[in-house]
Amino acid sequence: MQHLNTLFVGKVLLHFQELDSTNSHAQELLAKSKPVEGTIVLASAQPQGRGQHGSRWESEPGKNLTLSLILYPDFLPAWRNFVLNKAVSLAVRDCIAAFLPQKNVAIKWPNDIYVGDKKIGGILIQNTLQQSVIASTIIGIGLNINQTQFSAAVPNPTSLQLESGNEFALEIVLAALAERLEQYYLQLRAGNWEQLNTFYLQRLYRLGTNSVFQRIDGTVFRGVITGISDSGRLQISHDDFVETFDLKEVSFVH
Ligand code: BTN
Repeated sequence: MQHLNTLFVGKVLLHFQELDSTNSHAQELLAKSKPVEGTIVLASAQPQGRGQHGSRWESEPGKNLTLSLILYPDFLPAWRNFVLNKAVSLAVRDCIAAFLPQKNVAIKWPNDIYVGDKKIGGILIQNTLQQSVIASTIIGIGLNINQTQFSAAVPNPTSLQLESGNEFALEIVLAALAERLEQYYLQLRAGNWEQLNTFYLQRLYRLGTNSVFQRIDGTVFRGVITGISDSGRLQISHDDFVETFDLKEVSFVH
């Protein structure tokens, strides 16, 4: 393992050749013990990888990073859980951007990581609440690193190798990711939520750009993303007013 320049993230690294899902494994660990904060569960192959909204996360064995990080952000009220999402998205975005300095790397709301108009990484956060705070969280991260072919079912995927033409050592990307996750988590713990908001907006895909959206009922409209509410809803300005959307209520057309 590459030397890790962190205080706690990844200091305990549980590396498996294969796990159905690192998030599910982390859930099992949390159900029967209290893993050290910062524990990372890593799998080289993850045949039942879970994505957002019950989708699947496809990853060719040995080519990518699929991992889950366990944290105890009990300083965070449950209603502010989206700021955790912001901190994690920024960490993953900055990690990818560090390896693709010439590319435009952005966060597509709520937490897809995009290079140009293609998805390179996804995040699945599972919080456990206790008395209105987040007692524990499992931060699942899938990053496409050296995979160059994807099944047709995966919408507009890309990888570090596809974007750069180079192959990457997974442990180097992992170390870079762990460092950024810790940096942003410490900012969150220090209460710098407004700064995280500002950074997140600076990195938001299509902020301020005229785009076409579709509501869940199928209606299509042209508008501009103007921001994100504290609770994480997407704010889109169109026809002289701002409409806010929850997950799944809206999608980009182009
Ligand atoms: C998405 O749909 O964009 C989120 C994908 C999250 C995938 C990661 S891979 C590691 C972790 N374990 C899982 O089963 N899913 C997450």
